[in-house]
Amino acid sequence: MTTPGNALDIAGLRITLPGTARPVVDGVDLAVARGETVALVGESGSGKSLTSRTALGLLPPGAGTAGEVRVDGRDVLAMTPAELRTVRAGTAAMVFQDPRAAVNPLRRIGDFLTEGAVLTGALTRADAAARAGRLLRAVGLDESVMRRYPAQVSGGMLQRIVIAAALMGDPVLLLADEPTTALDVTSQAEVIALLAGLRRDFGTGLLFVTHDLDLAAAISDRVYVMYAGRIVETGPAQALFAAPRHPYTAALLASTPRMDGPRGRLAAIDGQPPDLRKPLPGCGFAARCPLATEVCDRQAPAPAAAPGGPDHTAACHHSDRLEGSPADAR
Ligand SMILES: Nc1ncnc2c1ncn2[C@@H]1O[C@H](COP(=O)(O)OP(=O)(O)O)[C@@H](O)[C@H]1O
Ligand SMILES: [Mg+2]
Repeated sequence: MTTPGNALDIAGLRITLPGTARPVVDGVDLAVARGETVALVGESGSGKSLTSRTALGLLPPGAGTAGEVRVDGRDVLAMTPAELRTVRAGTAAMVFQDPRAAVNPLRRIGDFLTEGAVLTGALTRADAAARAGRLLRAVGLDESVMRRYPAQVSGGMLQRIVIAAALMGDPVLLLADEPTTALDVTSQAEVIALLAGLRRDFGTGLLFVTHDLDLAAAISDRVYVMYAGRIVETGPAQALFAAPRHPYTAALLASTPRMDGPRGRLAAIDGQPPDLRKPLPGCGFAARCPLATEVCDRQAPAPAAAPGGPDHTAACHHSDRLEGSPADAR
């Protein structure tokens, strides 16, 4: 089920790719309200990028899809290429890991910022330049950077410019896929602060994709934890980090370096994610899970509400056996 008025509403999304025995994204439900900041976290390869890119209709060649992916109420999976272009030109925008890959090195930053709005006829050249100037100031830059070329600014500045460009069309939804991974620590902090302020300043819904739990905790209202193509746990950031109800989330938290330690890595959990070339009838985490029993290999657990509230759900047969979970305290 989807909710009208949400910036993003994904229901029962399945993505299949050639040569795999099971969907790489397998029954994902995920919503971002207008003005809400939501984090999608999980190890590399869990399906975060595929899920977020689907919101812009960006799928790998040969991909098959099922389910609904609504952006501002409209199902992008049912759109024509022309309709998808209008979504990408305004309704939703994406900020990727590497800002240098998002810009043309031979074009001035001012042209990069304004050309989309001018080409689609959304704004006149003068109005586009004025809006670009305002947005550059909003991301903490001087509008004089419009005369420069990408090679003449730092990676952190360029990512802020890419974010300003994403805001040119006044999107209801911004997708940020590991947007700080390629930046130095100082620039990372600046870009995070900037993204965190977008809700306040622009009312933009933000889906923040990261493998870094600390970043997710710092920026988001709600969190989805993804593992092997499935959402294993979701909830308000505070509740989920204080009392995880899925052993995978608990393992991630136990292995995450603290805020004051080295950043940007997820310490290893023993074992490997399940092979995409094999079917997965049970829980994807069973082979690595300290709590797993025979039922976990046989039957995929359905999401169930945590004791703390209906917003917090986990898909685990043994949630109540998690140490430190609220169930233990009763
Ligand atoms: N273009 C593609 N072609 C084939 N397989 C892909 C493609 N993109 C992603 N995959 C596979 O889908 C799975 C999920 O990938 P992805 O969404 O990029 O994960 P994440 O962003 O969480 O690291 C991975 O196993 C990856 O190898
Ligand atoms: Mg990714």
